[in-house]
Amino acid sequence: MTYSRKSYSLTKPAVIAAICSLSITVAGHAAPLSPGKPEGWLPNFESMITLAVVVGAFLIAWLLNHRESKARSLGTALAGLSCFGVVARFTVVLGTGVLDNPKPFQAPMDGAKPVLLWAQTFVALVAGFALLFVANRQRKGGIKLKLNNENEATRYGRVSRTIHWTTAILFILMIPTGIFASMIPAGVWFRSEYIVFHKTIGIILFGLVIFRLLWNRRSRRPEMETSLMPIEKKMAHAAHVMLYLLMLAIPFTGYFMTSFHGYPSYFFTITIPPLVAESDIYVVWGLFHKYLLQYLVYVVLGAHILGALKHQLVDKHINAFKRMVS
Ligand code: HEM
Ligand code: HEM
Repeated sequence: MTYSRKSYSLTKPAVIAAICSLSITVAGHAAPLSPGKPEGWLPNFESMITLAVVVGAFLIAWLLNHRESKARSLGTALAGLSCFGVVARFTVVLGTGVLDNPKPFQAPMDGAKPVLLWAQTFVALVAGFALLFVANRQRKGGIKLKLNNENEATRYGRVSRTIHWTTAILFILMIPTGIFASMIPAGVWFRSEYIVFHKTIGIILFGLVIFRLLWNRRSRRPEMETSLMPIEKKMAHAAHVMLYLLMLAIPFTGYFMTSFHGYPSYFFTITIPPLVAESDIYVVWGLFHKYLLQYLVYVVLGAHILGALKHQLVDKHINAFKRMVS
């Protein structure tokens, strides 16, 4: 299968050109844009949006562990507002009817996608309100957080925390946006833009987990929280190991599914060609990327998040969350 790269000349005013050049100079290539793209959209706008989302996630993660409680409160409030952004985006998009005739379903489970998207939109709405409530309490706290870059015996350091929360925001965002991208019919102009967004963030997440594993070798991770029962310690540890495996396996299978199908991957405006010859084996990689691993994510990530919330809200172990965020 062949794929095309188009190049675009920047004819807009200088100020727009300066912004656009950021993404264009990264690679020297322009991302392929769908035929039928309406007039008025900036060249490479999908790469700019992707960059804004990645920088935004990093900024929130950094603020969440800032020394000053007002900055931490701002980080929490921004995380809450981002949840409302997701709600607004999906409510508008799903309400326009663009997905009334989605890409033909490839498996019976695909019929559940609209329900899954609405359910995730609802969870984002609840999370948004909860985060705003927490932000308000943090604002009044006034406690200074003194943190080292390195992990300590009983709590995570700044580097591990920032990677954890950047990953958490981007990873969770990838789930509804991935489902949505997979439903956009082939003829719709913004399909390839969504795919650029999805693949770029997927590759960044892969880079983040590799960096995190290297960091863990340099800076020993804290021992398990002492207030946990032995069985809870085992379950929490198993969930952490599974999450590391999923953070490696999901982007890996995404890349090979794409490559065996004969399509390129993208890192912002850089086109990454398939490393392997086109083959029907892409179906097997797709089975893992789109189904088996995704359903495993719901179980493992669900247990991880609900476990952390139970620890904090039901068991009232007030230091539990503070090991990773304060
Ligand atoms: C809102 C969602 C999330 C919350 C509330 C949360 C909460 C936490 C907390 C409190 C810890 C520290 C556990 C301890 O005390 O030992 C932790 C660790 C961890 N989390 Fe999350 N997490 C979230 C999302 C995620 C996501 C999306 C991933 C990955 C896909 C993830 C992967 C991990 C891993 C691997 C660890 C263990 C870190 C290590 O020891 O290296 N978390 N999380
Ligand atoms: C942690 C990273 C990633 C996550 C969480 C993720 C998640 C998802 C999800 C939830 C779907 C929708 C599955 C469905 O219901 O059909 C999906 C589809 C897809 N993903 Fe990923 N993905 C990640 C990384 C990647 C990477 C790195 C690539 C390629 C380089 C990739 C390529 C694709 C493609 C091509 C689709 C199918 C789109 C379609 O069916 O039209 N993903 N992904």
